[in-house]
Amino acid sequence: MSGLACVVLAAGKGTRMRSALPKVLHPVGGRPMIEHVLAHAWALLPERVVLVVGPELEGTAGGFGGCAGSFDCVVQNEPLGTAHAVAQTRPLLEDFGGDVLVLYADTPLVRIETLAGLVRARRNGDRTAAVLGFRPADPAAYGRLVLNSDGTLERIVEHAEASEAECAVTLCNAGMMAVDGRRLFPLLDAIGDDNAKGEYYLTDLPAIAAAQGGACAVAEAPADEVMGINDRAELALAERILQERLRHAAMVGGATLTDPSTVWLSVDTRIGRDVTIGPNVAVGPRVVIEDGVEIRPFSHLEGVRVRKQAVIGPFARLRPGCDIGKGARVGNFVEVKNSTVEQGAKINHLSYVGDAGVGAGANIGAGTITCNYDGYEKSRTEIGEGAFIGSNTALVAPVTVGPGAVVGAGSVITEDVEADAIAVARGEQRQREGAAARRRERRRPGGTQD
Ligand code: UD1
Ligand code: MG
Repeated sequence: MSGLACVVLAAGKGTRMRSALPKVLHPVGGRPMIEHVLAHAWALLPERVVLVVGPELEGTAGGFGGCAGSFDCVVQNEPLGTAHAVAQTRPLLEDFGGDVLVLYADTPLVRIETLAGLVRARRNGDRTAAVLGFRPADPAAYGRLVLNSDGTLERIVEHAEASEAECAVTLCNAGMMAVDGRRLFPLLDAIGDDNAKGEYYLTDLPAIAAAQGGACAVAEAPADEVMGINDRAELALAERILQERLRHAAMVGGATLTDPSTVWLSVDTRIGRDVTIGPNVAVGPRVVIEDGVEIRPFSHLEGVRVRKQAVIGPFARLRPGCDIGKGARVGNFVEVKNSTVEQGAKINHLSYVGDAGVGAGANIGAGTITCNYDGYEKSRTEIGEGAFIGSNTALVAPVTVGPGAVVGAGSVITEDVEADAIAVARGEQRQREGAAARRRERRRPGGTQD
């Protein structure tokens, strides 16, 4: 959108979260809520984005959003209210003549079309501002929108200031506001802090605009888009709403979710077609699941690419840095970390494969462990194409098992195994003929004692 600047407010105390982590860094769908809101801002293609943070985020703000877009950051040293927060952008936006869209970093679920509609509502008839309203099931602590008879906004009443009659108003303030940039800063200057919280409320802006003869519009949004996250219960509710959306998108995209409500995805999860995801699967950030993959129940994936037709789980754990090849299998109670598993390789039962390369078609027997950590450093294990690792093998890294090699079950492999060799590293089997029978006879009541 041309003539648009977005301001993202992220400097509040977030006291209701009762958390050492700043509120806006709490994740929803595997992504900090502040990054959701920055992504919304960038999606509108504005001329600039300005993020307002508190001093605690000053040093880290640069990395937000994975640098998917650019933004300027200003610091609000004291959280004196939302109007005070917007006022901190004055050095950057005072001469900006277009629309300033204020977004709250604690409202991550809003859709781009809704925000674009809000800006259009401001522009339509050149209103001073347009405010986003919604009708939540429980209006709780939201500000209430008091309308004029012509449907324009008379004022916003904060919950802390509202009379009983005002509390009964069901149309609430979602927080997002598009303001005419030419009128924004003079209006902010007129906002005081004479209220229950002693804060400069941005929500005082419409009444001040009205007193100066400017009208403000209201655009209405669906409640599930604009709920604010102020405490852990709202965080959980927002997560549920977002998960519903992600599951729906996955199914519309051609994936079968056997029991959708038990599958947890991340906003950046990429799922191909004809993928089947069983019940109770959790997918963390940075996961790509290609066409035809089956993720069986109770599996946990994070930071991994699963290539076509691979079968994962049940009860598998894929940790960050994994690339699971086409048609490969990772079965029950198997953990794989920072490893490449090539096409058709099988790790079917009870294994830990970390910092390893597993060649195409290799078979990793039950209970195989790559001993990748010596207490000081991590080391790699390379297993060649078509190699066969017998059950209950410990591969003490750094170590290489050549292509086509076979390792006998129960081995502790500390040295490289050549291609096509058979390596066995365990105590040799001894046998004493008839010894078991003799023992039984000794132990029998009244049996021979020797
Ligand atoms: C705010 C609105 C309320 C609305 C609700 C919607 C005001 C005064 N009230 O209330 O009408 O119904 O959102 O969710 O705006 N922030 C700062 N600096 C500050 C204070 C807040 O940057 O000094 C940021 C916060 O990080 C947050 C956003 O502004 O992202 C909103 O602040 P919050 O304290 O959550 O306001 P609410 O009480 O939810
Ligand atoms: Mg809030």
